[in-house]
Amino acid sequence: MNNKTYGHFDDAHREYVITDPKTPWPWINYLGNGDFFSLISNTAGGYSFFKDAKFRRITRYRYNGVPMDNGGRYFYINDGKDVWNPGWKPCKTPLDKYECRHGMSYTRITGAKNGVEASVLFFVPLKKWCEIQKLTLKNTSNETKHLKLFSFAEWCLWNAATDMENFQRNFSTGEVEIDGSVIYHKTEYKERRNHYAYYSVNVPVQGFDTDRESFVGLYNEFANPDAVMEGKPRNSVAHGWSPIASHYIEVELQPGEQKDFIFILGYVEQPQEEKYETHPQSLPKGGMLITSLGDLDRTIINKVRAQETIAEFDTVEKVDKAFAELGAFWDDLLDRYTVKTGNDSLDRMVNIWNQYQCMVTFNFSRSASFFESGVGRGMGFRDSNQDLVGFVHQIPSRARERIIDIASTQFPDGGCYHQYQPLTKRGNNDIGGGFNDDPMWLIFGTVAYIKETGDFSILDEMVPWDNEPGTEVSLFEHLRISFNHVVENLGPHQLPLIGRADWNDCLNLNCFSWDPNESFQTTENNSVGSKAESLMIAGLFVVCGKDYVELCKELASRTSETSATSKYSAEAQRAEKEIDKMIAAVKKDGWDGEWYLRAYDFYGNKIGSHENEEGKIFIESQGWCAMAGIGQEEGMVDKALDSCKKYLDSEHGMVLNNPAFTIYHVEMGEISSYPAGYKENAGIFCHNNPWVIIGDTVAARGNDAWELYQKISPVFIKDQTLHKVEPYVNCQMVAGKDAARPGEGKNSWLTGTAAWMWLTASQYILGIKPSYNGLLIDPCVPSTAKEYTVKRKFRGGEYFITIKNPDGVQKGVKSLIVDGKPVEGNIVPTSEGKHTVEVTMG
Ligand code: BGC
Ligand code: NOJ
Repeated sequence: MNNKTYGHFDDAHREYVITDPKTPWPWINYLGNGDFFSLISNTAGGYSFFKDAKFRRITRYRYNGVPMDNGGRYFYINDGKDVWNPGWKPCKTPLDKYECRHGMSYTRITGAKNGVEASVLFFVPLKKWCEIQKLTLKNTSNETKHLKLFSFAEWCLWNAATDMENFQRNFSTGEVEIDGSVIYHKTEYKERRNHYAYYSVNVPVQGFDTDRESFVGLYNEFANPDAVMEGKPRNSVAHGWSPIASHYIEVELQPGEQKDFIFILGYVEQPQEEKYETHPQSLPKGGMLITSLGDLDRTIINKVRAQETIAEFDTVEKVDKAFAELGAFWDDLLDRYTVKTGNDSLDRMVNIWNQYQCMVTFNFSRSASFFESGVGRGMGFRDSNQDLVGFVHQIPSRARERIIDIASTQFPDGGCYHQYQPLTKRGNNDIGGGFNDDPMWLIFGTVAYIKETGDFSILDEMVPWDNEPGTEVSLFEHLRISFNHVVENLGPHQLPLIGRADWNDCLNLNCFSWDPNESFQTTENNSVGSKAESLMIAGLFVVCGKDYVELCKELASRTSETSATSKYSAEAQRAEKEIDKMIAAVKKDGWDGEWYLRAYDFYGNKIGSHENEEGKIFIESQGWCAMAGIGQEEGMVDKALDSCKKYLDSEHGMVLNNPAFTIYHVEMGEISSYPAGYKENAGIFCHNNPWVIIGDTVAARGNDAWELYQKISPVFIKDQTLHKVEPYVNCQMVAGKDAARPGEGKNSWLTGTAAWMWLTASQYILGIKPSYNGLLIDPCVPSTAKEYTVKRKFRGGEYFITIKNPDGVQKGVKSLIVDGKPVEGNIVPTSEGKHTVEVTMG
């Protein structure tokens, strides 16, 4: 094992502190919580965008470049001797000191060289459309320093996809304006765009550049731009080619002196009639050309909005205040669930990083990371429903809005677009639909929202189908139709038909693709006449179906109208019958003897059976059928969990399937396209390990649950070099036991693992579960656990919960005392104010 580390946690500040800029992969952070977002690596690489990483990309970024992670917001310091950056890159001049602190929605990078320390704080103020970069330069030497400071940002021509492909056009469109210390990017503003970007600094500048070639030099690199190396800005004005923004500032620092500079990278949108500096009469509706321009100068943009934002942050005091507000925002969010177990790693995972990652996945779905390029994927239907479950306790109103957005993209038969674009909130036709697990996730997300908030009114919201005005029905109706979508799409064994795929996007049983030029994800879905059925959907249906039944019963009990009561009761009964049928079908045709089958293929052949040569056992159906408790009385759940340990488990977690596929199976599709041990082909797909962990807790196997939880939690990783990606968040996939480098992580940040790890730890291991009528206490812990405390804010109340395990059991609540009084059962009723809860396991 390689013991080298690249940084450490600073829990008091909720930061990860990187002390070596040469991390095994860029270790990144996210800035922004509303509309304006940035990705920032530990060397200040990355980019910004507004709402949509594809359609409103503000700064340019080149993925998978050489060297890695080149391009970002850079400060160059030319001190007469050396040229260096506080974040080491791009010059890579060796620094006397380097430190990057990734915190909650901010990053602070500090570098020092030749007696000067440069520290940059990056953050997006709450509700603002800009990234602030507060640069502090300090002379730590005994001599006066004369520094030449250059800032740098490269504009993206808005659409991140065409920006990197349509050069015959792009090289002619770029336009900028320079106004004192503010550089404006206004490409395409003269035509259909009503938005621009700007980069400002709060001091006078002694020069600038806006044309990349003039600044860098055609045959140079970001590491040695001509202007910086010579210490001489070109004052270039971009016309086409590649517009950039660079300020040039001469700084003199006396010994011990410190100076702050506030840079703002901002974005503005404005109404059509206010686009230009001199207001025209409103443009006629319908976009007719104005024939007489009058005193209107239609080349100069209206800068009022930018100037307003710049003025809001033009002093250190104002910036520090906004930064303190961001800190308070996070204090509040992270104060809703905190645990103290005595195990620092577990505490920091639950209290800080897992919750933080849940917010990030909620914001970005699978769109923009250092593995997701921001151009390919919008918001996933199933992904977003899962993400919101990890986030709903933080800002329930945003989860509510998301549920409505998602449901609005559904089709009248319950089927779904697989993804939608955040800017338009419309289903994305290019990605298509037909994934038969999708509808169930709407039940999953909605139930979690109601259990957290007690807000049943969401079910009465009128929600359209496919965003078509006039088609609105209640959200409850969407849930009913979602439930029915499974019931109405059963196969020959009365198990759910898989459609294009289920949760596993790569198990493409109706695809039969031999054409390397087509994507498995969008190629023709030959489901008609197919016998392909999914045991994963069967388990999912039983879990979410039971939730649906419980919801109907709850609704029945909450209404005084007799007709409504009987409507919901009848619906609960109907649904229960369907669930029972499904359970029977799984027991009859979904059990392989030692574990649950995974699927039946197009022809009705078994997948995930001991009869198969490869892929004999799959994790998804074990996880879901165990969570559903299917056949628990008959010992199926325990057998399946034992088989997982036997065949799927490894030092780094459980692989998705075993043995890995070594040849391409046209009847299975993308799963068998991956080399063995990677991604869906026997990689450790972190997302579905929590399903097994939760399955363990259903079966009261607290020791197993805890063991696997530690393997999947990033905070327990020992070999940072091997793991490669950030040690503070989950990644989608860790190379499995059949891979060349088992334990190597990939695709960090944007993964459903975050929400599932949160559910696993907060609700199933630590056992504090929101329910309709209170907090349900049901821990499942390792037998070595003695005592821990949880503080939980819930529906206006604050609960201080102490859980004791005197007998060293793994599950079971022996007694519950609330505010000094014994309570029957294990539900803590809700009421406002502070409450003490004492739980004894046994
Ligand atoms: C990946 C999946 C992903 C799918 C959809 C596949 O190539 O392996 O993990 O869900 O693409 O984008
Ligand atoms: C990643 C996708 O975002 C998710 O929707 C899918 O379930 C998994 N990959 C598994 O294929």
